[in-house]
This record gives sequence, C-alpha cells and structure tokens, in this order.
Amino acid sequence: MESKRIATLTLDDGRSIELPILSGTLGPDVLDLHNLAKLGLFTYDPAFFSTASCSSKITFIDGDAGLLYYRGYPIEQLAQKSDFLEVCYLLLNGELPDAAQKEEFRSLITHHTMVHDQLARFFNGFRRDAHPMAVMVGVVGALSAFYHDSLDINNSGHREISAHRLLAKVPTIAAMTHKYNIGEPFVYPKNKFSYVENFMYMMFATPAEDYVPNPVLVRALERIFILHADHEQNASTSTVRLAGSSGANPFACVASGIAALWGPAHGGANEAALKMLEEIGDVARVKDYVQGVKDKKYKLMGFGHRVYKNMDPRASVMRQTCYEVLKELDLANNKLFELAMELEKTALSDPYFIERKLYPNVDFYSGIVLRAIGIPTNMFTVIFALARTIGWVSQWNEMIADADHKIGRPRQLYMGETKRDYVPMEKR
Ligand code: CMC
Repeated sequence: MESKRIATLTLDDGRSIELPILSGTLGPDVLDLHNLAKLGLFTYDPAFFSTASCSSKITFIDGDAGLLYYRGYPIEQLAQKSDFLEVCYLLLNGELPDAAQKEEFRSLITHHTMVHDQLARFFNGFRRDAHPMAVMVGVVGALSAFYHDSLDINNSGHREISAHRLLAKVPTIAAMTHKYNIGEPFVYPKNKFSYVENFMYMMFATPAEDYVPNPVLVRALERIFILHADHEQNASTSTVRLAGSSGANPFACVASGIAALWGPAHGGANEAALKMLEEIGDVARVKDYVQGVKDKKYKLMGFGHRVYKNMDPRASVMRQTCYEVLKELDLANNKLFELAMELEKTALSDPYFIERKLYPNVDFYSGIVLRAIGIPTNMFTVIFALARTIGWVSQWNEMIADADHKIGRPRQLYMGETKRDYVPMEKR
C-alpha cells in the first residue's frame, strides 16, 4: 500500500521514526506501525480500541454515523431487497450474483446440507442438558475430521468447498443441537425448502406432523441472518483470523469463532437480554431495574455497542421486523413484549442512556423476535453463530488468499516479576 502522507514520532531520547499514514476507501486514516519494532518499541492498545488488525474489503462500519455496508451495499437495502444466500454469495465472492450464478449457488448449498451420518454420533457424547453452544463448538470443530481430502488451505478449490460445506451444514448441526437437547429425533434437511425455511423445518418439524413455515416468520429470520452475517473485525471474527493465521483448517477456525461468540458481551447478548426481561418480570419493575443500571449494579443487556455510538442500523431494521412479528402473532399485549417495549422507551428517553449514547442494539430486538418465533432462549446465540458463519469464512478466506499473510503474534507490556533465583522449598 502506497502512502504519500507521513507522521513523525519523536521519542524523548531523540530517536525518531516516520510512520506512513494510510487511507482506506472509506473510514478514518490509520498509522502504519510496521516499522516500530525496528526501534525496539511496541504499541500498547489493550482491547484494540485504536488498532486496525488487518486491511479488508468485506464490511465497512461507521459507528458514529450508524452505517454498515457489506461489500459497499448498505445493510438496510440488503435486508429489504435481498435474501440470505445472495448476501452469502456477495460476502464470499465480492459481487452480487447474476440469476444463473444465484441459482447455481443455491443448488450447491442446498445439496450439501446433509451431514455425514457418523457425525450424528458425536451428539450422544454430550449430556442432554448441555448448552447448545457447547455442543456447537465441539461438533462444528469435529467437521475437520471428515474432510481430510480438502483441507489444503493454500488450494483455492479446497477453500471454496470448505466454505460451501460450512455454510450448508452449520444450520443442520444447529437444529440437531436443539433436537438433541429436547429429546426429539433429528430431522433431515429437505431440498424443496429455502435455506431459512429448511432451518425452521429442521428445528420445528417432527416425524409425526407436517410442518408449513409461516412466511412472515421466515422473512423475519431471514433478516436476522442477513443482519448478523458479518461485522468486520469483532471479537469472534478476529479470533477466526488469528486461529487461521497459523494455518489451522477452516472448521477448527470457525469452532474457535463460535467459542468467542458465546460470551455475553458478544453473541450471548441476545440470550442475556431475554433472561434480563424474564428477571424483570413486570412492567411495574422497569423503573427500579433501570435505577439499578444507573447505580452501576448491572448492565442493561442488549444495549450499547463498542463501535456504534448512534442507533445501530441493524437495530433499526430489526425493530421494524420485531413490530411486524408481534403483530402477525398477535403478541403486542404479551407481558414480556410489553415489558421490552417499556424498557426500550425508558432507555431511549433517560439522560443516563442518551448521554452515554447507549441505544438498544440488534440483539435486544432479535432476542424478542426469536422468542416470538418460538426459538428457545438457549438457541439464540446458536442462531447468531449460524448467521455469522459466512462472515467468519469470508474473512478467513480473504486472509488466506493474501499471499503475504503471516501468523498473528501480538506482543505485551510485561508487568511481572523481574529476574529472580529459584527458592528452595525449606526457605519459602
Ligand atoms: N448498560 C448500562 N450501561 C452501559 C452499558 C449497558 N449495556 N454499556 C455501556 N454502559 C456504560 C458504561 O458503564 C460506561 O459508563 P461510564 O462512562 O459511566 O463508566 C459507558 O456506558 C461506556 O461503556 P464501555 O464499557 O466503555 O463501553 P464498551 O464500548 O466497552 O462496551 C459493550 C460495549 C457492548 C460490551 C457494552 O455496551 C455492553 O456490555 N452491553 C451489553 C451487552 C450487549 O448487549 N452486547 C451486544 C453487543 S451487539 C452484538 C455484537 O455485535 O456482538
């Protein structure tokens, strides 16, 4: 990357170094610190508040303006006009497909949705009450053991088939974790359904009953998938990139992303938000609960974001979908949803939240929609993982396809003991 602008860093010992200032196509300029180590210096930026860890052409976020683009396309347009598989194609390949490419991609993914029958046996090793995310980490990681013929990460054909397998099989595995958890038989995928319909079918159908997906709920879930598909270098995506930088296979890398996503500060927020609503229990308790947040006893789950200091554009889309779903299912007067709407109103009008720019995030609304669709709370983060798989795979692929990529290896500011001699046991 060429740079015409330079920043000069001068140290208190008189040494100085010129740091190129790089400009992306959008977003803030970044200082190229590559050469700092030559001076024996490192940067200290815990939690990466000021660090761009890579360059990427996939997703752009402007947190202050509340913008999110996939490959340049605004998220609102994709949520309104596109469908999840088309968005997957876009993220993976960089361009929207034409009609023939779209159909070919749909058919390809549809015909990879079944998992090896042997994979089903992994489930028996888990307790029935295991959290579905624990099962997901294990079973998605186990996919590595099934495709030894196509794990050469330097072969673009192998990377492509692995990407397609992950995209196709993660929904099947996700639905299997649910069925195992509730003690129902696994439901095999059905090729007549769309990607989202098929997932709902595998989640909700039983061999004893016909299952007809409700189009309003399919559309709502499709939107959840689109909105969660990628989000540039968040914690789980950075985890996937770091794991992948060592040459690990994509199934193992995606399993590491699932593990990172599980935390309540990241993908676990939609589950935590629903649990919080249940804990509040009644509209009458909202005021007291919010007071507890202001007294810093706990955080309001589903509110705030590291990058968005404005309304998260995904939350705006999800909010509208949320109202559509509550109307379709005639749930507007349901106690839990009434409570959620009251909490939203309170937080949006209270100076504590306004001053700190704490808006409801996408997971606040997606939790409510998932609950209304009938997805159990312990599956919420699994749904996020399912949708984010394409983002992880696209980011991993972008990194590996770059011939210059190197193993990621951060350094540290050491604050431990200085050198000391071993103390024999009798002298301790
Ligand atoms: N409830 C109450 N106060 C909050 C919240 C919240 N959810 N989030 C931040 N604050 C306060 C925080 O106490 C601090 O106040 P003060 O300035 O008085 O000390 C101020 O806002 C700044 O907070 P911060 O911790 O510096 O913000 P951050 O950027 O490090 O945290 C976050 C971002 C998402 C981890 C945090 O907002 C949070 O924990 N939210 C709840 C969990 C959640 O909903 N996470 C999902 C994020 S969206 C999904 C995704 O993209 O992964």
